[in-house]
Amino acid sequence: MPRIRPLLVTLLGLLYSAAAVNIEEQPERRGFSLPATRASERYQAGKRSVTGTVDGTHNNDGSVLVDVTFGSQTLPVVFDTASSILWVWSTYYNGSLTGDLYYNISASTTWAQLPGYTFNISYQDGSGSSGVVGTDKVTMGGLTVTGATLGAANAGTPGPTTVTKNTWMQNIASSLPSPIFAAYLPWGTGAAQSSIDFGYIDSSKYTGTLSTVPLISGTSRWAFTSTSYYVNGVHYSVTSTSSGSAFMAYYAKVPGAYEDSGAWFFPCSTTFPSLTLDVGGVQAPVNHVIDAYSLTLANGTRICRGGIQPSTSMIFGQVFLASNYVVFNDAASTIQIANIVF
Ligand SMILES: *[C@@H]1O[C@H](CO)[C@@H](O)[C@H](O)[C@H]1NC(C)=O
Ligand SMILES: *[C@@H]1O[C@H](CO)[C@@H](O)[C@H](O)[C@H]1NC(C)=O
Ligand SMILES: *[C@@H]1O[C@H](CO)[C@@H](O)[C@H](O)[C@H]1NC(C)=O
Ligand SMILES: *[C@@H]1O[C@H](CO)[C@@H](O)[C@H](O)[C@H]1NC(C)=O
Repeated sequence: MPRIRPLLVTLLGLLYSAAAVNIEEQPERRGFSLPATRASERYQAGKRSVTGTVDGTHNNDGSVLVDVTFGSQTLPVVFDTASSILWVWSTYYNGSLTGDLYYNISASTTWAQLPGYTFNISYQDGSGSSGVVGTDKVTMGGLTVTGATLGAANAGTPGPTTVTKNTWMQNIASSLPSPIFAAYLPWGTGAAQSSIDFGYIDSSKYTGTLSTVPLISGTSRWAFTSTSYYVNGVHYSVTSTSSGSAFMAYYAKVPGAYEDSGAWFFPCSTTFPSLTLDVGGVQAPVNHVIDAYSLTLANGTRICRGGIQPSTSMIFGQVFLASNYVVFNDAASTIQIANIVF
């Protein structure tokens, strides 16, 4: 039996002592690499079936999935740095559930619901989830956290209180050699196996040197500043007044691209210009072609929604991570970037 080492949990705004988080002690601090697959790869391989309301926006796209074990049930979960809580579709979900993509709460002997607590999360693309909150044993890559807070999605009734807890990284940071994780998500024909590396940097996965960039303070996002960029080799400088408008220079070069209600769309067969961002001296390519949500309009026309979208700044995740090795360091408030090895 592994010994259980209590970890001090710092809660944001709310003290909830009953849900102490424990990490099953490892002989030594060690990092680990978690294999990752894209949603499209995974579903096409027929490993999981996704139908009905659950697939919504997450079918046939570049979302990054990793295996996570809740209690003793292993499920593919979208790995996302924009989520404030670890949550999973569950038997609390009121929509139609088909296949094995949900966590069966009654089948978990280690689940404990936190009465009266709920979560409610919404994403930039308009999707979201809400449900009940509880604790369970959560395992990723051989590292187990007992009593990890978990949202069990239930699209129906919200409860009276919203609970905010440590993120998965905050829970495991002290068990890693270094409190970092790195995204290695090459995409395309012949690309190597994607992974999320926890606690260490793998120098075989990038070329050149890692450029360290500070995160913009005062935002909960992993946001950084780029002072210049290239579209089809044409150089643009970012000034305070042009900041956030890089997507316009970009979409102006995408045949058939148009804006609708603040989001950019284009014919799925369009061709993309090249885009690179100067990030602390590294020319970081943004490979758009792999990420586009496809939608079918009421008249049957299929269109694609871009992986680069405007906000107060420029938002992109997957299309950037497909071409760059990125090390996330919350404690130091930095990211490090180098070109990826495919
Ligand atoms: C959940 O697990 C319980 C206990 O094993 C089982 O009786 C039930 O049928 C399962 N529910 C679903 C929806 O699969
Ligand atoms: C959703 O499920 C919960 C839990 O089973 C139930 O209490 C609630 O009434 C359901 N809500 C809807 C809208 O069906
Ligand atoms: C979740 O929060 C959003 C935004 O505050 C709100 O519009 C929505 O009704 C909430 N959903 C639930 C189920 O509480
Ligand atoms: C379908 O609707 C879109 C958006 O209004 C329009 O651009 C497109 O031409 C339409 N396609 C057909 C076949 O009518």
